[in-house]
Amino acid sequence: MLSTGAIAGIVIASLVVGAILIFFIVVLAVKMSRKRSGNKVADIEKRLDGAVACVTGGNAGIGRETALELSRRGAHVVLLCRSVSKAEEAAKTIEVETGNTVDVEKLDLASLESVRECAEALRAKLDKVDLLVNNAGIMMCPELKTTEGFEMQFGTNHLGHFLLTELLLPLMERSVYTGFKPRIVILSSSLHKSGKIRWDDINFKRGYDKLEAYNQSKLANVLHAKHLAKRLQGSGITVYSLHPGKK
Ligand SMILES: NC(=O)c1ccc[n+]([C@@H]2O[C@H](COP(=O)([O-])OP(=O)(O)OC[C@H]3O[C@@H](n4cnc5c(N)ncnc54)[C@H](OP(=O)(O)O)[C@@H]3O)[C@@H](O)[C@H]2O)c1
Repeated sequence: MLSTGAIAGIVIASLVVGAILIFFIVVLAVKMSRKRSGNKVADIEKRLDGAVACVTGGNAGIGRETALELSRRGAHVVLLCRSVSKAEEAAKTIEVETGNTVDVEKLDLASLESVRECAEALRAKLDKVDLLVNNAGIMMCPELKTTEGFEMQFGTNHLGHFLLTELLLPLMERSVYTGFKPRIVILSSSLHKSGKIRWDDINFKRGYDKLEAYNQSKLANVLHAKHLAKRLQGSGITVYSLHPGKK
């Protein structure tokens, strides 16, 4: 039979051993998570000095965060936005934070005329574009049409970006010769998986459904990226589409 004192001793010893074990498990877990995020940090530290990065919808949300990070890494960022005043405000705050130049160009993706004017202006002021981030997007809006009469989400999210990309390709081709690896990044969404291209009714003239229209536009983003990646194989320009997750 153990005495009360011995039992108390065993209980205390078990508690101490348990506490030491938990301490080591926590230390190990913290070390492992630091190691994992350490990889991300290494990525983030990749410099982009001398690179020119155009970000559509760079005044808000994911686009603004992307522009901020690119600027922090040293890129000359150009925000392509439909509201010049909002874009200038964002450019100012990013410049203050990073100390690097952030420019603004007007771009309304819901007007192909505006897309052409934007590309023209960029061609006049830039020698090259190293990174094009097709980020701007509109989600589940009421039934609306672009200036040229396309369904708003398909027109903005896909057609406007499609034309912009085509018109900026000559500037991106110039990047290849300056030592950068030019890249086109197209923001899609995991909802593309539910998307269908309504080949016989691309503008949803028969029964508009705002979610279906969004999904169609995001599937079009993925198809655009896949096709362009194939077309540009061997050119030095790479193309990606992605689901960004939440901001
Ligand atoms: N957030 C998410 O969870 C999520 C998930 C999946 C995919 N995405 C995709 O990620 C991208 C960014 O999403 P977000 O959440 O950052 O969106 P957001 O906060 O709503 O920002 C959208 C940006 O697009 C711009 N924009 C809208 N219509 C435009 C037009 N006609 N011409 C030019 N710019 C226009 C907006 O300009 P204004 O400020 O003037 O309105 C804004 O700068 C989108 O393509 C979206 O489909 C987001």
